[in-house]
Amino acid sequence: MGNEKRIKLVIIISLLLIETFVWTTYGSGNFWSLGLTGGTDEPSANIDGADEPIPGIDREEEDKPEDESLPDRNTEENDGQAGEEGDSPEEIADRELAIQEAAEKGLLILVNKQHPIDQAYKPDDLVKIKYFVSDRSETTRYMRAEAAEAFHRMVDKAAEENLELKMTTAYRSYAFQKILFDNYVAKEGEEAANKYSARPGESEHQTGLAVDVSSPSVDYQLSNDYDKMEEGKWLADHAHQFGFIIRFPKGKSEITGYQYEPWHIRYVGLAAAKEMYEQELTLEEFLQIKGIE
Ligand code: DAL
Ligand code: ZN
Repeated sequence: MGNEKRIKLVIIISLLLIETFVWTTYGSGNFWSLGLTGGTDEPSANIDGADEPIPGIDREEEDKPEDESLPDRNTEENDGQAGEEGDSPEEIADRELAIQEAAEKGLLILVNKQHPIDQAYKPDDLVKIKYFVSDRSETTRYMRAEAAEAFHRMVDKAAEENLELKMTTAYRSYAFQKILFDNYVAKEGEEAANKYSARPGESEHQTGLAVDVSSPSVDYQLSNDYDKMEEGKWLADHAHQFGFIIRFPKGKSEITGYQYEPWHIRYVGLAAAKEMYEQELTLEEFLQIKGIE
């Protein structure tokens, strides 16, 4: 074994020991208060498809959450849960390495109310998305290359099961997000807008790694009822197999800062998505456990 490989192995084993310590000390259900605020999550009004869209801007919708319980998990898929019997040290090491690589590629970037992104940031590898609701803004029809490729594979797989998934918006510039947010504030007031729409500079749509998904069953709108539809259920059950997470899950508003959004998925890479799905972690929780800044 070369020196470099040996050093890598020592780093991975150290990370695993730290992770195991943290996991056993704090458990999985009672994580980290990250000091996140603004998660009161009691929307006073819905914005629905009847709202007048502003020219060239799509609606980011926010229906009132009805149930804050966590979504069911496919127990069969839980078999591979991290730390369970069956995960060999090599498998665990491989996964940790894949997560580190994802972090190095910027796929685990955290953008939220506490971690804004530079106003001028624009990914340099944006790729056009094939599956797109045609009456939405063309300027948002892009994702970072790896995320776009995963999105296309996911949509193709859903189509094999006769389910139609399409993106409504993906990459959004700072300027686009500003128009969107200001529009919601004008309609609903700032307090309400803050629960479902990010301020400019605080939306991970600007990373090119987030995408809002819709389907014919909800008339290509963004609806909380999406998780009751076949397409929305499929998305919740399968997104992680393509490297995506439901970024604002039920019951985690205090951590994410936003109410439940069954349509908003975020690309993080396969290994991280699998772990977050199986352990029901938000990105904030996951990054803290892993010690990734
Ligand atoms: N709806 C999410 C929070 C955004 O605007 O980025
Ligand atoms: Zn979104």
